[in-house]
Amino acid sequence: MNDITLRVNGSERKVSVSPDTPLLWVLRDTLELSGTKFGCGAGLCGACTVHIDGDAVRSCSTPVSQVAGKSVTTIEGLSASEGLSASGLHILQAAWIAEEVPQCGYCQTGQIMSAAALLKKTPHPTDDQITQAMNGNLCRCGTYERIRKAIHWAADAANNARRETAKNRFQDEEHGNGGAQ
Ligand code: FES
Ligand code: FES
Repeated sequence: MNDITLRVNGSERKVSVSPDTPLLWVLRDTLELSGTKFGCGAGLCGACTVHIDGDAVRSCSTPVSQVAGKSVTTIEGLSASEGLSASGLHILQAAWIAEEVPQCGYCQTGQIMSAAALLKKTPHPTDDQITQAMNGNLCRCGTYERIRKAIHWAADAANNARRETAKNRFQDEEHGNGGAQ
């Protein structure tokens, strides 16, 4: 057993576990964050995807010792970390609801975490970029087409929000300048 400190969803957490314990079990069993799911346990299905320093990573095949001192984001902390919609959900969570993506729901945590990492690097992805980024996230219910639509929905919504913010800022500055003249 070793004491290992990691930053999870913005808070520093110290855990006392064997260094080769998979991060997935530390999250689920030690820290009781059960939103991250176990699928294959071998890095093949994507159900256990979390972000480590912003990158999508399979937590089932990542020893916790590799994450010491790093920043981990799980589905529980995603909306607080970035990209809120008007409803307070992460923009992708709003998109998932709008496009009625989940069927059984089991794979969807991993799908959303992979999609969030994609949109962070590629705010307006093409179909090919979505296929490539989401390739390792399997869905036994076959929701792939709805996932693609939801990612486009979120990208468009985020773009519109950015445009609106820029427009408001421009109008505020215009107004301020007008008053100063
Ligand atoms: S449970 Fe981690 S990739 Fe399948
Ligand atoms: S929604 Fe059932 S496995 Fe993806």
